[in-house]
Amino acid sequence: MIKILGISASPRHQATEFAVKKALSKAETYPGIVTEFISFRGKKINPCIHCDYCIKKKTNCFRKDDMNELLEKFVQADGYIIGSPVYSYNPVPELIMFFNRMRPWRVAFPHESMEGKVGGAIAVGGTRNGGQELTINSIINLYLSREIMVVGGSTGNYTGGKVWTNNKDSAGAEEDEIGIVSSEDIGARVAKALLLIKGERK
Ligand SMILES: Cc1cc2nc3c(=O)[nH]c(=O)nc-3n(C[C@H](O)[C@H](O)[C@H](O)COP(=O)(O)O)c2cc1C
Repeated sequence: MIKILGISASPRHQATEFAVKKALSKAETYPGIVTEFISFRGKKINPCIHCDYCIKKKTNCFRKDDMNELLEKFVQADGYIIGSPVYSYNPVPELIMFFNRMRPWRVAFPHESMEGKVGGAIAVGGTRNGGQELTINSIINLYLSREIMVVGGSTGNYTGGKVWTNNKDSAGAEEDEIGIVSSEDIGARVAKALLLIKGERK
């Protein structure tokens, strides 16, 4: 089976979680795809301090937080749907720290190649044009920094899932038809790309 990991980078169980789950539900409609969801709510991710411990010792980070467990789940998945709330026109800082802390990937998991992995992005903002596109672009760049291939949406959807909550949290996301459709679309696109790469689809 091909596994897609959905991540809500929000510190809450709210709109981002709703949108990522919509994308995962759509991805699961493709035979051969299984999904898992994780939330950053309650997770502790410290910043990378560039001590180079992981590189020198060829091992995981020594810092005692949730990152090592999260990284293990991440390297074992084939594809990703990452959703972030827009905070000040950007993804939440925890998501950037999460990608920075992937530095031990090659040395701690030498048999888990980054190649052939596919990612899609979702951004959730309280304002209609609150920075969703910029946030999606940042998530795309984070994927590229880890050699993960990126898919955008299908015609008219461009880069990924763009959700507007109208500052009503999950209830607002549930009312945002465009947000739901674009999130489901990115779920389908990640699933279809993975099936192609794995030779399960022509
Ligand atoms: C510190 C902070 C900064 C925010 N900045 C923006 C912003 O720049 N643009 C925007 O549209 N919404 C912004 N918001 C609103 C959130 O993106 C919105 O409430 C979103 O639904 C949060 O995701 P969640 O419901 O999954 O937690 C901000 C919220 C917080 C707490």
